[in-house]
Amino acid sequence: MIDISGIPAAEPVRIIIGAGDQRWPGWIATNRDTLDLLRPEEWEASFGHRPADALLCEHVWEHLTEAEGRSAARLCYRWLKPGGYLRCAVPDANFQDAAYQCIARIGGPGPKSHPAADHKIVYDYRRFTDVFVQAGFSVDLLEYCDEQGRFHHHPWSPDQGPVYRSLRLDHRNRGGKLRFVSLIIDARKPG
Ligand SMILES: C[S@@+](CC[C@H](N)C(=O)[O-])C[C@H]1O[C@@H](n2cnc3c(N)ncnc32)[C@H](O)[C@@H]1O
Repeated sequence: MIDISGIPAAEPVRIIIGAGDQRWPGWIATNRDTLDLLRPEEWEASFGHRPADALLCEHVWEHLTEAEGRSAARLCYRWLKPGGYLRCAVPDANFQDAAYQCIARIGGPGPKSHPAADHKIVYDYRRFTDVFVQAGFSVDLLEYCDEQGRFHHHPWSPDQGPVYRSLRLDHRNRGGKLRFVSLIIDARKPG
């Protein structure tokens, strides 16, 4: 569990799930050992007295099976305030780049030590959206590729949750060529 009792009532509860080494100002970084998407009891202990305003999760959902991902979506819905949101990014099955898809694929590129070795699924925008819609969220697609590999992006503010592997923030995309993308959504709990 995590302890959010120190956050003043006037400040939002903003949580990064599966943060790894990521740290963003104004966000509490958590990892699997403290807030596991597959352990609902940790979420109840953490948010039972005060649900979250915002959740941020970059390149984590692909480490869950589809069934686990659907149950994790319901868990996030349960512990968000009405009107709260989850900003969530995963590798994009429709990005037409062989080297990228080699890393993104199920099982990763080969060596068991590779961080992508436990990839369990590669989402396209339709399936990923469905995971969250079925959990009760309304979904905005922020960045994604369509079936023809065309990249689409809608304006979004890093102030509401920075996603590094994105058009604007990822250093690999400087210089006008798109080299690394994510499928990025905002999943909002009605309220
Ligand atoms: C590729 S790393 C991404 C780390 C970080 N979000 C980033 O973008 O650099 C995948 C992360 O997912 C986390 N993770 C995997 N399964 C998880 C789970 N069930 N609950 C929470 N985090 C999980 C891992 O601990 C790891 O930190």
